[in-house]
Amino acid sequence: MKIKVSSIILFLPVFFVLGCDSGQDSPVSKKAETTQNAPVVTEEAPAPMAESTGNDEAIAKAESEPVQQAAISGKQVYQKACFTCHKTGVANAPKLGDAAAWAPRIAKGKEALYSSSLNGVPGTAMVAKGGCGTCSEEELKAAVDYMVSSAE
Ligand code: HEC
Repeated sequence: MKIKVSSIILFLPVFFVLGCDSGQDSPVSKKAETTQNAPVVTEEAPAPMAESTGNDEAIAKAESEPVQQAAISGKQVYQKACFTCHKTGVANAPKLGDAAAWAPRIAKGKEALYSSSLNGVPGTAMVAKGGCGTCSEEELKAAVDYMVSSAE
């Protein structure tokens, strides 16, 4: 008996809500219904997906915007676009500050290195612009200057 009573009490609000939804057709209650239900639906299903793509876009924007506004230092470009490989030497990338690794490259001349940073080194992980599609030529040069000066 106790269980029945409590379950009726539990379900009463549900019936009340359902009754309101189906029973009243006034625009006011319809409005309340949609505004109440909509956030729940979007939060439960598509939100996580939208969140991840949204975040990616936000990150891409956050990364690209300061670059497009130019005038960021070679160090900043390096930290943004080059350090993933050039810090630890991924795929034999010459490491920042590794004079032995940079010496033969520096010997080729700055122009050759600028060209490599812009066009990549074919057949290696050093792709055009180091993969930084939003980096300008000036920024790539600045990053090269930064890495070269760290190894001199
Ligand atoms: C995905 C990894 C990766 C990223 C990111 C990357 N590099 Fe490299 N980079 C390499 C590798 C690997 C080499 C060595 C290529 C070779 O074997 O000559 C290299 C070589 C270079 C060289 C020497 C090229 C030469 O002609 O000797 C320069 C300059 C250079 N990278 C600049 C940059 C700059 C500037 C960035 C950032 C904008 C960058 N790299 C980002 C992997 C990377």
